[in-house]
Amino acid sequence: MKHLLDDTDLAKLSTCIAGQMGLFFPPSKWKTLEQSIFTAANELGFKDVHECMSRFTSDPPSKELIEAMSCYLTIGETYFLREIRYFEILERQIIPEIIKNRRDGEQRLRIWSAGCATGEEPYSIAILLHRMREAMRDWDVSILATDINPHSLRKAREAIYTDWSFRTSPQWFKNNYFRPAGDKQYELLPHIREMVKFSSINLVEDCYPSLVTGTNAIDLIFCRNVLMYFTPQRAATVVERFKHCLMDDGLLFVSPCETSNVLFPGFDPVSFPDATLYRKQGGADRENETNVAGIEDISHSPTPRFFDPGSVTESQIQEVSPTHPSPLYPALNVATSAPLRDLPAQETASPYQKALTLYERGVYREAEEMVTMQLVQDRNDTRALALLCRIYANEGKLAEALKASDLALATDKLSSGLHYLRAVILQEQGMYDEAATALKKALYLDQDMVLAHFTLANLEQRQGKVRESQLHFNNALSLLEKYRPDDIIPESDGTFAGRLREIIRATTAGM
Ligand SMILES: C[S@@+](CC[C@H](N)C(=O)[O-])C[C@H]1O[C@@H](n2cnc3c(N)ncnc32)[C@H](O)[C@@H]1O
Repeated sequence: MKHLLDDTDLAKLSTCIAGQMGLFFPPSKWKTLEQSIFTAANELGFKDVHECMSRFTSDPPSKELIEAMSCYLTIGETYFLREIRYFEILERQIIPEIIKNRRDGEQRLRIWSAGCATGEEPYSIAILLHRMREAMRDWDVSILATDINPHSLRKAREAIYTDWSFRTSPQWFKNNYFRPAGDKQYELLPHIREMVKFSSINLVEDCYPSLVTGTNAIDLIFCRNVLMYFTPQRAATVVERFKHCLMDDGLLFVSPCETSNVLFPGFDPVSFPDATLYRKQGGADRENETNVAGIEDISHSPTPRFFDPGSVTESQIQEVSPTHPSPLYPALNVATSAPLRDLPAQETASPYQKALTLYERGVYREAEEMVTMQLVQDRNDTRALALLCRIYANEGKLAEALKASDLALATDKLSSGLHYLRAVILQEQGMYDEAATALKKALYLDQDMVLAHFTLANLEQRQGKVRESQLHFNNALSLLEKYRPDDIIPESDGTFAGRLREIIRATTAGM
């Protein structure tokens, strides 16, 4: 191919790609980049590469174009049980530990596969959890899987795979969980497919954590083989945001080639042979607590149990001794939360304002302390109670969040926002009928509340009420017409109107 773009064009393009998608294209990759832009220009119907480039580098390019371009620029390589060691650790250590810790508490597990490509990773997790269903009876388990690439997400939702996706998985994996779908293709069984919820998230966007995208109070984030393609700055921003999405002691899974002693400030490395996980710092009293990753070294275990085809029962869940390995990189530990010291401009701010700033930074424990100070001054401060509710929700303390929302509502029964907040908590607790009632109250008080229509539509879709769901999605879409794409939706923790519109379009596409 003769050169269509010169070095100045390619430098501009790579800066733009890094800004919009995080991907790193140094000069050594410019030839590939040029080829990709050429193909994209042809297939997306541009006159030539220059038109494609100038649209993409316009300020800002549309989300549709960013997503369309991602199909040509991202690497979607993936397969079931990739880097199987992580799945062994998950099955043998992490999940048993969570089950043990939460035996008397909220039995809830939230997992996010960020950069899920065509779905093999989140479905591997779903299969593993299905194998543990006996031990997790009555648990509320959710698996969120997101990607920027719309083609990959479409394939992931279809859940039909060829042998190539099973290239390292044991025979039982395919035999037990897939059925033939013609011409050497295999379809995932519906009950596993339904365990995973797919949605589109560009990790570069500031749209997580958020109650709207379900990226709050996450226990385990899998983001493997994604950050290795990012510029160091973008990767660092994503890791920082992940920290805010995770519960205290939550874990981040990256691939072996992404482990780093500089990329994960605010996390403690948890080392296994052939695998390092990253645990969010800031857990409660570590000395007395068995945390999510209370680590038993399984390097010398004779037969990895993961390869047994049977499901795992509660009696098989071992008591794992809570050892707390010292962090490998103690020097990095300083980057945890010393939030109040670097808030000089806030010296005269009220405890509520300080709490709000801390909340927005994702420093929930300190935000909780600060908002409690506000409530000592005025226990009926509605804003503070509502903030406390959000803080608890982000910490995964749903019972406390519900109590705070009740207290807030007692001070202002006519607030549609508070009824909405209560509904979100009820929904997260699996109390769908009560959540629907709370949403209807919110809509009675404010029929233009976009998020209440959207959330009710999702609930109704889940309950199989297709007609009602479609109606509420339509209401949300027509209300969104009053907003510009970059307006922030009220009560949404910073979700843009354009983004919500896309989420609704993607959700309703197959309805
Ligand atoms: C190599 S695949 C990894 C798939 C899976 N996690 C695994 O380890 O097998 C990388 C995925 O990251 C996605 N990706 C790249 N940039 C992204 C971004 N800015 N936001 C969301 N996903 C992105 C790509 O579309 C691709 O599907």
